[in-house]
Amino acid sequence: MFLIVKNLNKSYGTKENRIDILKNINFSLEKGSLCTLLGPSGSGKSTLLNVIGALEPIDSGSIVINEFKISNFKKNILSNFRRKYLGFIFQFYNLIPDLTVIENIMVGSFIHNDPMDVEKLIKDLDLWQHKNKYPRQLSGGQQQRCAIGRAIIKKPQILLCDEPTGALDYKSSKNILSLLQKINKEYKTTIIMATHNEEITKMSDTIIRLKDGVISQKIENKNVIDAQQLEW
Ligand SMILES: Nc1ncnc2c1ncn2[C@@H]1O[C@H](COP(=O)(O)OP(=O)(O)OP(=O)(O)O)[C@@H](O)[C@H]1O
Ligand SMILES: [Mg+2]
Repeated sequence: MFLIVKNLNKSYGTKENRIDILKNINFSLEKGSLCTLLGPSGSGKSTLLNVIGALEPIDSGSIVINEFKISNFKKNILSNFRRKYLGFIFQFYNLIPDLTVIENIMVGSFIHNDPMDVEKLIKDLDLWQHKNKYPRQLSGGQQQRCAIGRAIIKKPQILLCDEPTGALDYKSSKNILSLLQKINKEYKTTIIMATHNEEITKMSDTIIRLKDGVISQKIENKNVIDAQQLEW
């Protein structure tokens, strides 16, 4: 198994202010699987992505990615691990405003000794004619494609996406989903995507539902369809 989450507990706050957010989470994913994370607002989706991405500490349990027990690593090793193996795509892009499209994407490549070819990537992202623009000069879909470029240029083994189409219209959403599907297939990138869109389950190998910080359901989908066929 590529990702193994075992007896994971995560709370925020201390003592009487402590709130348990994730409660005894257990699941595993094979390399190259595309997993959708669903659940009501506040159920813990973003928190789960953040702890898998080592952006937040956990209280107990373990997270193993590709045989690295990331829940044991020290801070500096963790940031190295993140930079090398992990891509993160946020709901609101988090681009650097003073850098152009090409510069924003290049930021993701500096630490990798064999990054993707940036020109080819920008063309694949359909951003070539916008490559010298700044984020404020781009539409939401273009910004999100730029953020995806930044996350994948280093060929991450695992890509965590927190509502990557949350701020986009129907057509842009479908294009982003197609792009994620293509990355998943081409590079065997393991993808975990938090969303409120039920339809996305149809393009996923694994569907995990959270409820109040507990996994209420995990199902495998044997009939994965093309992202362009989704409708909502
Ligand atoms: N830094 C924090 N300090 C305290 N509580 C937090 C913090 N971050 C999140 N929480 C709480 O943890 C719970 C889970 O939040 P989380 O953001 O993981 O939910 P979510 O499933 O991603 O929701 P949404 O669908 O709205 O994005 C919520 O009750 C939230 O208030
Ligand atoms: Mg969230």
